[in-house]
Amino acid sequence: MRPLIIAHRGASNLAPENTLASFRLAKELGADGFECDVQLTKDHKLVIAHDFFTDAHTGVKGDIYDMTFDELRQLDFGKWKSPEYEGEKIPTIEEVLDIGKDMKMMHIELKPYLDRDADFPERVIDAVVNAHMEDKVILTSFQYGLLGRIKEIRPEIRTAALFLNTESSLCPPTALWEDLGLTNGDPLLEELSGPQGLEKAVSIVENPDSVDEENGLLVRYLNDRLTALSSNYPGKNLVEILQQYYYQTDMLKYVSQFDFPLDYVGPEYHVCFRDTTLLQRAVEMGYHVAPWPVGDESRRDLRSVLKQNPEIIVTNKPEIVMAILQGQKAQ
Ligand code: G3P
Ligand code: CA
Repeated sequence: MRPLIIAHRGASNLAPENTLASFRLAKELGADGFECDVQLTKDHKLVIAHDFFTDAHTGVKGDIYDMTFDELRQLDFGKWKSPEYEGEKIPTIEEVLDIGKDMKMMHIELKPYLDRDADFPERVIDAVVNAHMEDKVILTSFQYGLLGRIKEIRPEIRTAALFLNTESSLCPPTALWEDLGLTNGDPLLEELSGPQGLEKAVSIVENPDSVDEENGLLVRYLNDRLTALSSNYPGKNLVEILQQYYYQTDMLKYVSQFDFPLDYVGPEYHVCFRDTTLLQRAVEMGYHVAPWPVGDESRRDLRSVLKQNPEIIVTNKPEIVMAILQGQKAQ
C-alpha cells in the first residue's frame, strides 16, 4: 500500500517552511497532510514556527517566546526563501488547523521553551478540539513527558515520540550555511555534524569569540538548538542528556518502557538507515511508524526509506516522493 505523504513543515523544499503558503502548496501538490511546529509567544498565543529565534527566517533578531504575537506578525517569514513569498506572516495554530481540515492527517509538533509553560499541552489540545480535528491530528514531540500528559487529558488523541541522533540536530541547515558563506565540507560543519558535535556547539556558544564575528548568526543558531535540546530534557544537564541519547540507541526498548500508551514512533531517516529492520519491528510491536528527515534529503534517501514500506513518510519534498511512487507504479 502507498504510504501517506506528510509534507514536513509544509512543502518546505519549494516554499518557506511553516507558512500558510507551504501548507497550501502541500495540499495543491496532493500530499495527504503536513507537519508543523507549534510554540507559545510571550503573550501565550500558539504560533507555528520551528526555531525559537527569528533571526534566520526574518532577518530580525528576536526569540518567539520573548515576543508578543503582534510583534511577530510584523515580521516577514517568507522573503528568505524567495522574493515570491515576501509578506508571509507567522501563522496561528487556528489558521493552520483550518488548512488541514480537508486533508487526511496533520502532525503538530510541540516545541516547548524550557519549562516555562506548564499548560502548553492543554492549550494545544484545546485548539485541536475547538477545530474538531481530534481524529486527524497526531501530536508529536521530543519531550516525551508531554506525550504522557496528552494521553492523560485526551487519550483518544494520537501521539508520536520523535527520535534522532544529536549530531543531525546541530548541523545548520543548508540555507543557513549559504547565508554564513560556508560550503559543504567546511571543517566547522564537519565537526558540528560529527560525534563531538554537541561539545563543539557548547564551546562555540560559551566562547562566541572563538568563531569569526560574521558567524554571529551561527552562534545564535547553535544557542537556539542547544536550548531546544535542554527543553526536551527538562532539568537534565548535558551529560545526562547524552546518556538519554545513549539509551535511545535501542529506540524500541526505550519506548516500551514509557508509562503511557504511545501510538507512533517517529525516527529520523538515518535511524532507519542504521537499522533497516527497525520500522518492521516497530509495527510488529504494535506501533505505527512515521520516519522524518533532517535537512535536505536526497532522492536516494527517499527511495531507501520507501523501500522499508513505511505506513507514513514525512518529507520536505512531497513532490519528489510522489514522482518516485508514480514512477514505480508505471514500471
Ligand atoms: O516530524 C518530526 C520533525 O519535524 C522533528 O524535527 O527539528 O524538524 O522539528 P524538527
Ligand atoms: Ca517538527
